[in-house]
Amino acid sequence: MARIELVNVGHAYGGAANAGTETRWALRPMTMTWRDGGAYALLGPSGCGKTTLLNLISGLLTPTQGRILFDGKDITQLGPRERNIAQVFQFPVLYDTMTVFDNLAFPLRNRGWKEAAVRTRVGEVAELLDLAADLKRRARGLPPDAQQKISLGRGLVRTDVAAVLLDEPLTVIDPHLKWLLRRKLKQIHQQLKVSLIYVTHDQVEALTFAEEVVVMNHGEVLQVGTPQALYEAPEHTFVGHFIGSPGMNFLPCKLGANEARMGDVTLPMDAEWLARAAAAGTEHQLGFRPDAAEVLAAPVASTAGAAWQPARVQSFQPMGTHSLLQLGFGGGSVWVRAAAAFQPAGDYVWLRPLPGKLALFADQRLVPRSATEASIAPHASTPEAGAAP
Ligand SMILES: Nc1ncnc2c1ncn2[C@@H]1O[C@H](COP(=O)(O)OP(=O)(O)OP(=O)(O)O)[C@@H](O)[C@H]1O
Ligand SMILES: [Mg+2]
Repeated sequence: MARIELVNVGHAYGGAANAGTETRWALRPMTMTWRDGGAYALLGPSGCGKTTLLNLISGLLTPTQGRILFDGKDITQLGPRERNIAQVFQFPVLYDTMTVFDNLAFPLRNRGWKEAAVRTRVGEVAELLDLAADLKRRARGLPPDAQQKISLGRGLVRTDVAAVLLDEPLTVIDPHLKWLLRRKLKQIHQQLKVSLIYVTHDQVEALTFAEEVVVMNHGEVLQVGTPQALYEAPEHTFVGHFIGSPGMNFLPCKLGANEARMGDVTLPMDAEWLARAAAAGTEHQLGFRPDAAEVLAAPVASTAGAAWQPARVQSFQPMGTHSLLQLGFGGGSVWVRAAAAFQPAGDYVWLRPLPGKLALFADQRLVPRSATEASIAPHASTPEAGAAP
């Protein structure tokens, strides 16, 4: 296993001549450290640069700029084999005339392992992946999910790899097995402490599998964080919108000295926070999660204060465990989660976004609530602000 560092690494297909404009970077220059033994998910929509980033780490691609270090050693110019990376792809890669055993043994024999050690190790991995009963069968005759398990096994069988990289490995697997295999991978990570980087565009897959999730969009790494941090404190509006179902609500807002105005709604807010937001950018948005607001079917005397705002009901969906309301509010439309038994009494309900759970964004970036939060480096492994073109 190795600690993997990317230092100002950027990639433009077609080389440096193409890298001048922002849109030509398939991966915008970024700096980030991947912990030894960590379980990471690389999450983002199609075309955002996930595979590009993975292939830069494995050595299938050489970066247009920047350096890649494994345990402090510069390996930027080395190919995949010398980097000692195992990679698992979307579709099974195996020798279909060989038995399952020989497929799993191949990466070990290839590296000169003794036969007895090969047998022990293949046995362990086959056990982990529930392939033990199939070891003598030929790979060819097995169903696609078993074949993909063999591919996974070939990635996991070596004990000496710097990392195992998986590029949407469960695409060919049916939903139920997918869930089982994902759990299996998590278990394998816990047992073997192997560094895993797992590419997916499915947030559920990313959030259930990974200790840390790397969220990308348009070739840029926007945030690296635990599932909880991404949910509670998205550092970019894209992260707020992409994580959660429905995602975070955003309302364009105008900043006053002590309040923020969204359409006809005014919310009192901390003056220093507002001042920092004003200094940080020109376009501002207020954000809150659907579960970060209280909702009442009708105003009651004790709560009819300024904090409660009328909101027009646009849709109402009972979900069993809770209800979802789409509400016209603050010059826009927001989703709010209410109790399962909640019923709107008419066209309007009364809404109160929880003051402690509001977020402010300036030009899409989160504005920290307090100066102390702002003085802490945003995240040890976020890309360097100055590195973007
Ligand atoms: N070989 C290539 N030559 C030129 N452009 C490429 C090449 N491979 C990828 N790209 C472009 O680079 C960008 C990033 O692509 P990449 O394959 O890394 O995205 P991705 O996040 O893996 O997408 P997906 O979820 O669809 O697999 C895209 O705009 C893509 O069109
Ligand atoms: Mg891809």
